Amino acid sequence: MQGRKVIITGVPGVGKTTVVNEALKKLKSEGVEYQSINFGTFMFEVAKNDNVVQDRDQMRTLDRTVQKRLQQRAAQAIAQITGNVLIDTHASVKTPTGYLAGLPEWVLREIMPDTIVLVETDDDQILMRRLNDETRSRDKEGSRAIGEHQQFNRSIAAGYAMITGCTVKIVINADLLLERAAEDMANVLR
Ligand code: AP5
Repeated sequence: MQGRKVIITGVPGVGKTTVVNEALKKLKSEGVEYQSINFGTFMFEVAKNDNVVQDRDQMRTLDRTVQKRLQQRAAQAIAQITGNVLIDTHASVKTPTGYLAGLPEWVLREIMPDTIVLVETDDDQILMRRLNDETRSRDKEGSRAIGEHQQFNRSIAAGYAMITGCTVKIVINADLLLERAAEDMANVLR
């Protein structure tokens, strides 16, 4: 049976990995299985082997051509995976020279997703989550810049839908409402 491919996106710190993990717990109890893949981890493994970075947060500062090469190798590896696949990644990545499409045409044509999910919440909630997360080197930017990035992600997701015919779903992960976000995410995956 042909599996489903669902791409999960959201600006750094919005909590997409947290929501996905909660949704997958619900689905497991119902017998629905997904293989969960982190696109950044695939890219990081390649980047580490090539000795171009030491930690995953350095990747978005690499030269654009290097980031594109890493994207392509990750997409090719992910395209080989069969069954229901959930891909945790970015609609766009903020680089020093501007937004880089996370799913350019050559990545989309490898993966051909059924649905792209945008995990969003209020800009100032994301700012607070980044400030409270000491495990990562998050970009230092204000809530206005975070808002611009969320807006850009909606625009570029519309472009991805035009290329692939996939659907685009927005899941809101508001403070204190993780359970609701996880249920919305589980409904996309059921
Ligand atoms: P990646 O590993 O995906 O980094 P990220 O965006 O920082 O994602 P995380 O999973 O760490 O954060 P999150 O938003 O899921 O938040 P979390 O659940 O931890 O990617 C790493 C790098 O790979 C990228 O920077 C890029 O360079 C590269 N990359 C990836 N894909 C690429 C692509 N397609 N093209 C090019 N490059 C690519 O939660 C954050 C915090 O919020 C936690 O403290 C959590 O407890 C809290 N939280 C979550 N939900 C709630 C809630 N409802 N209420 C209160 N707090 C909450």
